[in-house]
Amino acid sequence: PEQIVVSDLAQRMAVKAREVTKLLMKMGEIVAADEAIDQATASLIVEEMGHNPVPVSDTKVEDDLQEAVEERSSNVQTRPPVVTIMGHVDHGKTSLLDKIRETKVAPGEAGGITQHIGAYHVKTERGVITFLDTPGHAAFTAMRSRGAQATDIVILVVAADDGMMPQTEEAIDHARASGTPIIVAINKMDKSTADPDRVLNELTTKEVVTEEWGGDVPLAKISAKTGEGIDELLELVNLQAELMELEAPTEGAAQGVVIESRLEKGRGAVASVLVKKGTLNQGDLVLAGEFYGKVRAMTDETGQRVKSAGPSIPVEILGLPDTPAAGSEFLVVSDEKKAREVAEFRANREREQLLERQNKMRLESMFEQM
Ligand code: GTP
Ligand code: MG
Repeated sequence: PEQIVVSDLAQRMAVKAREVTKLLMKMGEIVAADEAIDQATASLIVEEMGHNPVPVSDTKVEDDLQEAVEERSSNVQTRPPVVTIMGHVDHGKTSLLDKIRETKVAPGEAGGITQHIGAYHVKTERGVITFLDTPGHAAFTAMRSRGAQATDIVILVVAADDGMMPQTEEAIDHARASGTPIIVAINKMDKSTADPDRVLNELTTKEVVTEEWGGDVPLAKISAKTGEGIDELLELVNLQAELMELEAPTEGAAQGVVIESRLEKGRGAVASVLVKKGTLNQGDLVLAGEFYGKVRAMTDETGQRVKSAGPSIPVEILGLPDTPAAGSEFLVVSDEKKAREVAEFRANREREQLLERQNKMRLESMFEQM
């Protein structure tokens, strides 16, 4: 079978050969640096060594920070629901968002240059609803894998003339895995080929049983083209939100999640963030992922300057030195030293994880060449 000399393996992982032999010994194999081991063992070694358990003192850095933030937040109040629209390609997700925005964003607000910030909020009679329009399941998964659950409710859009498709099923799985309640929106009801009953029947095979069929999943039949049923859909969102009793402290240091970020000519790093707790203010020192900086300016989704943003409200912030990854948590810190400490710790961890992935890839390609 394929073999590799321990010292070569060590070199490729950028560690001392002695560390590898020591680990081998722990695994019950006494091997010298110039001896060879088989691929399975080598893979185990890489996995073990690549697996960098975070030292206790380092997690403490983050825990302390978290505690300090929690302590400072107060005045818990009802907050708007954050909604993500999911569904199969071409089933009308973007059209639905556009229609909602068109009918619910006041003309004056929409008149300006509408910025794409990956999220926006609309006012309905029953309250504000925030939509994440970072489309697609990839973004949803990225956020989830970072533990940054940003969505309260999923609207599952299914075209009445097409029915349940692979990405519909995927969306259902994502929502389930994260415990996010689903509201079904059967779209394209204006079409003569619309067959909502067929769709509802198909959905039951994924155990999505709508209220119409005796289940408990709310359902709206809509047309993103004509606007039919959209008010009812928003009403269902509000009802669901009330059931969930969504709350957050409105005062204190803000905490939230990065929706997306980019570098813009003349503005620098621009990060769209969604506040989850507390209030974010212009001038706050923000730690986002591995970067920190003072919020120089904030704008809402219509490009208007705002001075502060509370729970569930999305804003764009300027002032970070670089672009934090989508799904990174952000929080406001009072102490620049602490911010630097955590930022450095995170940057190191990122580097280590990158190195680990590179090592794995190098080892794999090495064996392919043999
Ligand atoms: P992806 O972003 O590619 O996944 O698609 P999407 O789900 O955002 O669909 P999109 O809103 O782009 O709509 C796809 C097509 O369906 C477009 O041609 C829309 O005009 C059309 N469409 C969307 N909603 C409706 C509707 O309610 N009725 C009719 N007749 N057409 C619709
Ligand atoms: Mg779209």
